[in-house]
Amino acid sequence: MHYHIYNQNIRIPAMIYGTAWKKDRTADLVEEAVLSGFRGIDTACQPRHYQEYLVGEGIARACEKGIAREELYLQTKFTPIDGQDRSNMPYLESDPLEVQIAKSFETSKRNLRTDFIDSYILHSPIFPASALLKGWETMSGFYHDKEVGQLGISNCYDLDVLKYLYERVEVKPSVVQNRFYAQSGYDRELREWCRERGIVYQSFWSLTANIHILEKPIFLSLSRKYGRSIPVIFYRFLSHLGIIPLNGTTTVEHMREDVKFDSFELNEDEVAVIEGMLR
Ligand SMILES: NC(=O)c1ccc[n+]([C@@H]2O[C@H](COP(=O)([O-])OP(=O)(O)OC[C@H]3O[C@@H](n4cnc5c(N)ncnc54)[C@H](OP(=O)(O)O)[C@@H]3O)[C@@H](O)[C@H]2O)c1
Repeated sequence: MHYHIYNQNIRIPAMIYGTAWKKDRTADLVEEAVLSGFRGIDTACQPRHYQEYLVGEGIARACEKGIAREELYLQTKFTPIDGQDRSNMPYLESDPLEVQIAKSFETSKRNLRTDFIDSYILHSPIFPASALLKGWETMSGFYHDKEVGQLGISNCYDLDVLKYLYERVEVKPSVVQNRFYAQSGYDRELREWCRERGIVYQSFWSLTANIHILEKPIFLSLSRKYGRSIPVIFYRFLSHLGIIPLNGTTTVEHMREDVKFDSFELNEDEVAVIEGMLR
């Protein structure tokens, strides 16, 4: 799989393995994903959906089998309180926001057995705006301390919120990670704005929110033409738009096939036809 170089000279793989909802299988699947060729791993310090310490175990096992840590792009998230299960979270409800973020970050480093997180993501915007800026400033401290390579934000569908943040902070967001679906107009305007500033757009729900598109006849014909599965055709299409898809497959055959998703090219007309379906 290819890497791309973005802001802050961070190398981001063209597709990232997603670790949500894998429960007890997390370590085995992460190890398998890395051994299959994935070099980017996305997780979160949000025990409700992610077993981050098992992600760390899976990475450690893959490294014992010869993968160098430097080859990997590790991305994790600070999840604000509304996204947490309050009976199982990495900080106290009563902690000030800065302390919540600091505790979550320490837990992530311990879970992932590393002192450097390539990409640290705010899981969703925080309101009011003053809290968003304060939280971002705390995250920026990790960047200044060289414990984090870049910062990002997720579930940010309102371009005005992203602009507000971007214009007021010193360490600019380098990543936006959003659900790729019709309800947001596929973030068309937001993606263009990000592209102009070198901000990486990562997609999730790429397949699951777009079954209606994947069922169109063109996908079957492209699948036959290129000898790739329909999901691979769609992932390739996304990468032609400059999107880095997250992929949370739990099937080893899918991992092995998907990881080679950028070993062929769709032509401009094919990309344009599929793009026209995004509405
Ligand atoms: N920031 C956020 O709030 C947020 C929210 C949701 C997800 N995420 C991240 O995004 C990751 C991906 O989650 P997702 O919701 O986008 O969906 P996904 O986990 O990638 O789900 C894809 C679904 O499609 C199926 N599938 C069929 N063929 C496939 C193929 N060739 N390759 C891959 N999947 C195939 C998978 O089944 P098989 O398992 O059988 O392959 C799975 O059921 C998560 O693990 C997480 O890291 C982030």
